[in-house]
Amino acid sequence: MFWNRLKRTAVLSLFALVIGAGIGYWQIQKNNARIIHQTSQPIEMAGVDIGGPYELINQDGAVTTHEDFLGQYKLIYFGFTYCPAICPTELQKITKVLNELGPLGDNIQPLFISVDPERDTAELMREYVSLFHPRLVGLTGSREQIDNVMKAYRVYARRVDDPDLSDYTMDHSSFIYLMGPDDNLLTMYRIKDSVDFVVADIRSRLAAS
Ligand code: NI
Repeated sequence: MFWNRLKRTAVLSLFALVIGAGIGYWQIQKNNARIIHQTSQPIEMAGVDIGGPYELINQDGAVTTHEDFLGQYKLIYFGFTYCPAICPTELQKITKVLNELGPLGDNIQPLFISVDPERDTAELMREYVSLFHPRLVGLTGSREQIDNVMKAYRVYARRVDDPDLSDYTMDHSSFIYLMGPDDNLLTMYRIKDSVDFVVADIRSRLAAS
């Protein structure tokens, strides 16, 4: 009697465990599906007033304005060369995207604009952009020139002094802007958007244009 009861309890417990695990697994799958679904939504920005004229200095020290890139698609990223993690990751993403796009990527000009012009000299920008893509243009300038372009692109950046670090760091927003040939904003890619997602999105946009 005792063994039978024990056996029945054990079987019922096992049964409950399997059901419980099944429900848990189903919920995790459901959540994953939702997260994947969320990341697959491109940001619709057509008509949003982001971007505008600017005058900056490129990595060779030459005056460079928005007019130099008119007629080209652009992928623009704002950051700083001392950035420990996010900036290099996002610039690598741009490189991978352009490589994946192949000949289509040749129509897209990658730009890296500094939010830290006090430290990011043209010389430092030249060294830095060469780490990522042969066509990547690095732009810096005076504080005022950088403030103007940051305002036009609604970029947030703030100096952070951490007593544990030997030098200051920058807290900054992180978006990759896809600009059209007329300097119109097409969309913005987020940190969570994968290389595959960005490649597919750019392919569909350039095919439609
Ligand atoms: Ni950064």
